[in-house]
Amino acid sequence: MEHNKYDFGLVGLGVMGRNFILNVADNNFTAFGFDLDDEKVNALKEEGGNLEKVSATTDIETFVGALATPRKIMLLVPAGKIVDAVIENLLPFLDKDDIIIDGGNSFFTDTDRRDAYLAEKGIHFFGSGVSGGAKGARKGPSIMPGGNKEAYKEVQPIFEAVSAKFKGEPCVAYLGPKSAGNYVKMVHNGIEYGLMQLTSEIYDLLRKAGGLTNQELHKVFSDWNKGRLQSFLVEITSEIFNQKDDKGDGELVDKILDKAKQKGTGKWTSQNAMDLGIPVPSIDVAVSMREISALKDERVVADQLYGRPTPAPIDKDELIKMAEEALYFAFINTYAQGLHQLADASCEYGYELDMSVIAKIWRAGCIIRAGLLEDISTAYTNDKKLPNLLLAPAFVEKVQATVPAAREVVAYAAKSGIPLPGVSNSLTYFDAYTSSKLPLNLIQAQRDHFGSHTYERTDMEGIFHTEWGA
Ligand code: 6PG
Repeated sequence: MEHNKYDFGLVGLGVMGRNFILNVADNNFTAFGFDLDDEKVNALKEEGGNLEKVSATTDIETFVGALATPRKIMLLVPAGKIVDAVIENLLPFLDKDDIIIDGGNSFFTDTDRRDAYLAEKGIHFFGSGVSGGAKGARKGPSIMPGGNKEAYKEVQPIFEAVSAKFKGEPCVAYLGPKSAGNYVKMVHNGIEYGLMQLTSEIYDLLRKAGGLTNQELHKVFSDWNKGRLQSFLVEITSEIFNQKDDKGDGELVDKILDKAKQKGTGKWTSQNAMDLGIPVPSIDVAVSMREISALKDERVVADQLYGRPTPAPIDKDELIKMAEEALYFAFINTYAQGLHQLADASCEYGYELDMSVIAKIWRAGCIIRAGLLEDISTAYTNDKKLPNLLLAPAFVEKVQATVPAAREVVAYAAKSGIPLPGVSNSLTYFDAYTSSKLPLNLIQAQRDHFGSHTYERTDMEGIFHTEWGA
């Protein structure tokens, strides 16, 4: 390595970029940042302290010239056209075998396009999901890189050092060629949407049917976080119920408008699952619920028009127990759907994903980290070709033990007019996936009846058509 040149370059010194570059420096690599915005460059220099390890510039030529070759340049800029613009600005100064890493939530086909374009110029491109928010970027994110396997060796030591660790194991691994990393991150986010929707539903049930106060909810979620539901999202949910409003009385959660925004990664997961023909209803409905939430004004009018039944009295402790079981059941089904999508995408796009490795690098650092991922990883280690988590022997027991509560909770909520679409879609997914007999024979008959679309039979081979009603 050239003397006095920086080990790592980072473009985009926003919150994520600043935290990531400081993390690189904490791990004894030298890192140089670039941003067009003076203020961000200065903020980093001030915050960074140790200017021998980390510095930054607003001049792209200075930036590229200061990096040791092959250059390792990570972009932490908003997904979309900006990524292409940054690549174009960097290109005149790069040399063959330099490496560009896109750390944003780019759409996977954009990554494939950029990978092919840069490969022609002898530049390696990595689409690399980074999960864990600002804190993760600073203290250890989960990193999901995809790209050229040989070139990954150049990046590996830095990524392994800066990533989160689970029992000492780094939460980063080479995932596959081309857009494999971005694809895995996209599905991570789809699962994230699903788990967030589920926790919000269970909160709704507990407050509306059980009358739980925020303090009680804080306790319930923090107790759950000590058990099999242990996860980042359950942990922060418990913290949220405890947060006082600094602008008024009570807890902040009660003052937050119930309209959820989205940047698109959950929607992409659903859209691509449809393209692949893989059912992910717990994720689909999480996207739909963000869309329904946005219709606040209409919801208020409709609420007045229709009202809803009063929830039947229910024992609070019994409700909490059922809610925990239903949530665990629905979490499993949501991971199962996301992982099923990944396994299918792996064949379709030639990623050759190793599901046990993916589950491993999700055990710490990322938003969907959870105790469950250890069991998931073991299930895929035991059977690399497992078609669905629900078929793993270790999961049969977990699901059998909790599905009765999911049924109780969904039935109770339906009678009470409390929407639990994530839990009920998880249950419906489970019931359909585990049915050896579904009524789709009737759909085939209807298709053949009105459109001569043909059908197969259960008792003989071949393709058949009937002149119905003849
Ligand atoms: C992560 C997150 C992150 C994502 C946010 C917001 O893994 O750190 O997935 O990448 O941007 O969760 O996503 P939405 O704005 O779509 O909710």
